[in-house]
Amino acid sequence: MDKIAEQLRLAGQEPLANHFLSLNEASRSVLLRDIQTQDFEYLKKLHSEKSSENLNDSISDDFTPMPFKLSIEDQRLEYWEETGKILLEKGQVAAFLVAGGQGSRLGFEGPKGMFDIGLPSHKSLFQLQAERIQNLATQVGHPIPWCIMTSPLNHRATIEFFESHHFFGIDRTNIRFFEQGTICALDPSGKAILQDNEHLALVPDGNGGCFRALAQSGTLAWLVEKGVRYIFLYSVDNALVKVCDPAFVGALASTGNMISASKVVHKRNAAEKVGIFAFQNKKPGVVEYSDLPEKYREMTNPDGSLTFDGGNIAIHLFKMEGLRKLQSSSLPWHTARKTVCGIENSWKFEQFLFDAFPLLGTMLPFGVVREDEFSPVKNAEGHDSPKTAREMIGKLHREWLRKAGAKINQAKLYEVSPTLSYAGEGLSNRVFERELGKNILEFDP
Ligand code: UD1
Repeated sequence: MDKIAEQLRLAGQEPLANHFLSLNEASRSVLLRDIQTQDFEYLKKLHSEKSSENLNDSISDDFTPMPFKLSIEDQRLEYWEETGKILLEKGQVAAFLVAGGQGSRLGFEGPKGMFDIGLPSHKSLFQLQAERIQNLATQVGHPIPWCIMTSPLNHRATIEFFESHHFFGIDRTNIRFFEQGTICALDPSGKAILQDNEHLALVPDGNGGCFRALAQSGTLAWLVEKGVRYIFLYSVDNALVKVCDPAFVGALASTGNMISASKVVHKRNAAEKVGIFAFQNKKPGVVEYSDLPEKYREMTNPDGSLTFDGGNIAIHLFKMEGLRKLQSSSLPWHTARKTVCGIENSWKFEQFLFDAFPLLGTMLPFGVVREDEFSPVKNAEGHDSPKTAREMIGKLHREWLRKAGAKINQAKLYEVSPTLSYAGEGLSNRVFERELGKNILEFDP
């Protein structure tokens, strides 16, 4: 025990060492479990580096926007979709959901994927995703492996939710849940924070921890064994996410030398809280909204449009070779100064998964239409809220039905079950009349 305390002292954690030694044996062994998950020398270095960092330093002089083209304007779209479906049919595509975050902005306790956005069906975000995966799997006649990363904060609750919903009809053997890593929060002077007498204040290490967690949990090996070659990586809160979108998969597969791709939309306005795609020193990447200096955020072209306009909607695709490379690469750490266990201005560290792109060196920006693909549920009210998500789904599905020739009420919104249609296919007036009140639900705007 003295040796542990000595190591903590050497790493600048004197108060923690003293506290550790003051505990009785039982409590000490509980705290030891947390201590052993952390590399305090590394944390010391990180704290010292980050303390002297300036936000503007994180952007290089060679900083340029990343141009992109909307995929619907590309004549190859149909070909990409067919290519993607062939790869799905061969079992080469998997879905990877990062769902370890806390969802604090929304004010919802528990895993965000359990959230009911108030659609007439009251389906949760998890259920919408599961049914899209299942629909696509049925279309191509091959199961789609689904990897779900949780964190110690929500692992149990996530699994219990899936169990209580019988995995939404997906064969349990095609879903893998695993936890991401954690990192200790530090007080302003760099000392480890205690959550209580026997526990460190450990927080999830950011969604960039997904590459490490995928490998360490054995899930990467599981995917390799299944012959998966393309991994569709996405965030939990987008109510419109087209999980494993065949056109996106086909586009990356058709580019040959690229090993990753990302969906991108035009930013709503300068203030929108999305990361932006840009090149730094000729390398593709994303700069998070919280890290983007104001001069770039507000910068405009002569026609008034935003210069850094490519918004990150947190939908990415990696070839397996990219993921293999990433399991042994170290992503940079970002910091947030927050109140942790009552200590103001504490340090929280996290890695961002999009920092993989500069490491990989190539990335295909795949432009998509916001109204078809991006409706994140981040705030309880206002922009990006359950209300806006309901409206966007309702309008999109009404448009699907209208295009399919259904005799709809234009004043209403519609919810088409993903079990009936993945992206608007297979609908007609006959289907509409048969399914209204069942798999098609009408509601007021
Ligand atoms: C994220 C993107 C942002 C993008 C926006 C689009 C990152 C870092 N930022 O921002 O560029 O414009 O989505 O909606 O990706 N998560 C974990 N573990 C963690 C932290 C987060 O799994 O430790 C998961 C969350 O559960 C969520 C996803 O990562 O599924 C995004 O995290 P969140 O903190 O919500 O990022 P945003 O601020 O929404």
